[in-house]
Amino acid sequence: MAGTARERARELATRLTELSRAYYVEDDPQASDAEYDRLFRELEALESEDPRLVTPDSPTQRVGAPPAEAFDSVDHALPMLSLANCFDDDELAEFDRRAREGAGRDVIVYCAEPKFDGTALNLRYEDGVLVRATTRGDGTTGEDITANARTIRNLPLCLASDNPPAVIEIRGEVVLPRSRFDALNARLEAADQKPFVNPRNAASGSLRQLDSKITAQRPLAFMGYGIGAVEGAALDGGLYAQLGQLAEWGIVVSPYVERVEGLAGARAYYDAMAERRAGLDIEIDGVVFKADEAYVRDELGFVARAPRWAIARKFPAEETTTTLDAVDFQVGRTGALTPVAKLTPVFVGGVTVSNATLHNMDEIARKDIRVGDRVIVRRAGDVIPEVKAVAERGENSRPIELPSACPVCGSAVERIAGEAVARCTGGLVCAAQRREALKHFASRDALDIEGLGDRQIEAFVSEGLLQTPADIFRLHTHRDALVAREGYGEKSVANLLASIESAKDTTLARFIFALGIREVGQTMARDLARHFARLDALRDEAGAYLEREAEARAAATTKADYERRMSAEGLQIVPGVGARVAHCIAEFFAEQRNREVIDDLLAEGVHWPVVDVEDKAQPLSGQTVVLTGTLTELTREAAGARLEALGARVTSSVSKKTDFVVAGDKAGSKKEKAEKLGVRVRSEADLLTLLAEHEAG
Ligand code: IVH
Repeated sequence: MAGTARERARELATRLTELSRAYYVEDDPQASDAEYDRLFRELEALESEDPRLVTPDSPTQRVGAPPAEAFDSVDHALPMLSLANCFDDDELAEFDRRAREGAGRDVIVYCAEPKFDGTALNLRYEDGVLVRATTRGDGTTGEDITANARTIRNLPLCLASDNPPAVIEIRGEVVLPRSRFDALNARLEAADQKPFVNPRNAASGSLRQLDSKITAQRPLAFMGYGIGAVEGAALDGGLYAQLGQLAEWGIVVSPYVERVEGLAGARAYYDAMAERRAGLDIEIDGVVFKADEAYVRDELGFVARAPRWAIARKFPAEETTTTLDAVDFQVGRTGALTPVAKLTPVFVGGVTVSNATLHNMDEIARKDIRVGDRVIVRRAGDVIPEVKAVAERGENSRPIELPSACPVCGSAVERIAGEAVARCTGGLVCAAQRREALKHFASRDALDIEGLGDRQIEAFVSEGLLQTPADIFRLHTHRDALVAREGYGEKSVANLLASIESAKDTTLARFIFALGIREVGQTMARDLARHFARLDALRDEAGAYLEREAEARAAATTKADYERRMSAEGLQIVPGVGARVAHCIAEFFAEQRNREVIDDLLAEGVHWPVVDVEDKAQPLSGQTVVLTGTLTELTREAAGARLEALGARVTSSVSKKTDFVVAGDKAGSKKEKAEKLGVRVRSEADLLTLLAEHEAG
């Protein structure tokens, strides 16, 4: 009986090994997860009945052994060397020159490989079975971490060979793929554990767990790059060929290994990998060039602890540590405040960095970064440098505080609950936002000032002619300066001033939209104008809102209760205005300087026709209309404007409250919906008749 159990156990182990190799090494799954689990459990059952069936290469050994007290020290059969580094082209040329001289060759052929950024591992296979895995340690003595190594899924517990060497040591790097790194950190944070700073630390930290069950849960991978001690086999002397042999045995080797010729070949390889770097799932910190031929390597030999026949050409480091000296807040074009770290200058990612982004206050809190800390700074490629994490708490460190006033204009800074970004509320007066505010103010859908486009605004602001929107209406006082400007003349200035003058005659909806209140788009502005009819009414309501908000917050028992209290109030009665929009409107009018600019604009003569909201005389007031499909005689925008001029409300979605839908060519879902809801559908011809009828009267 024991014989059959043993046979079955072996059969299962072989099958599971094949399946796992297909999955992890070849990326070509041969069975479902359920099938794998079923076989796995069968093997587990056999082994637990008869522990003598457990072999060191059994797939059940991957799940982790009982925790160790400490790791045993192991002397390496062959020392694990390090590599000489070089950081530029000249140093690489110097290496190549010495290698050619030393080996007496005109051209050296290199085995070119990525330099993986992980932690080194030596795997000892005896008769094809993994018997021991050791860390590099000091190069002579390492730690026995066999139980941990067994949990690495893409690492074969036995070599795929009928005739393996009696002994072979395979060396490589244990890495944690970038794609798994974030998920691992998220898991750690959820379990209240400290996240890893980078994939390399995650790899080495995970590999050196005393409890291999923890290592088993980390998505580590092994990338083979070389061979150590060998007994009982004659291997090809070429390194490139040796890596091919490793791959045949089931060791994962980088797909980017190449044989390159001489310095030119090495340089081209470096450039190609530097280009590829950012897109790789496994982080690399350089490339390695090794003389491919055994003869050349023998001629060159070693110096100290590194071979003379190999060199690592490092990429510029993407991360380093430095001190966080202070934090400034930068105000962006949209008023967003970004905390910027002022750093003791460091060389990173190929440049000297003294400023780096801290993203926002939430990130600062999450990473618990304080002024005075030693921090890890990252600059990858052309990406803006960022402070990634605290490396070491500074002795006299102090918390980073969000300023209550905008550092540019002094307006109040607001931070909406649940949002990471803090913003300056001085949209109209803040110098940081001025250009954008002015461009928006003069744009087509706002005050529509012809001749005052983005380019002119940029120039006028730079020359100090414009600061706030009200200055636009005082440009006439700079008439001479304008005429003297390059590319301008009497005529163009006269045109510009005339269009500014006529822009004073506007509508309340356009004016509200032009103010650039956050969250208030064109439709919202129109709805506000229609609801309040007078600017003062809107202002009063906005003024009362913040107070109400504070009261409701104090009185409400639950979030739902708070929302119920607020939804019945002023601003939120307007269709489409929710808590967020209402809050933005209120904040905008609460800022004294915004109110001053509005008064200034009114004083300069900006005005609009006052419509009486109660005025039912408008022929289409109270009617809600939806336009859909392609109109042929006029654009949808024009049709909408004319309908609105007659008092209709033009919206974009059809509901039971819609009075009628105008369907042009190729009208689709909206027309169907109207038909389904029994809403009247009219043609473009009907619309033209309707407009003609009412506009005449
Ligand atoms: S060869 C004698 N090849 O870099 C050559 N090393 O500074 C010894 N590394 O500890 C190493 N990728 O862990 C070699 N393709 C590669 C490598 C590589 C990463 C690591 C290795 C070693 C360190 C050497």
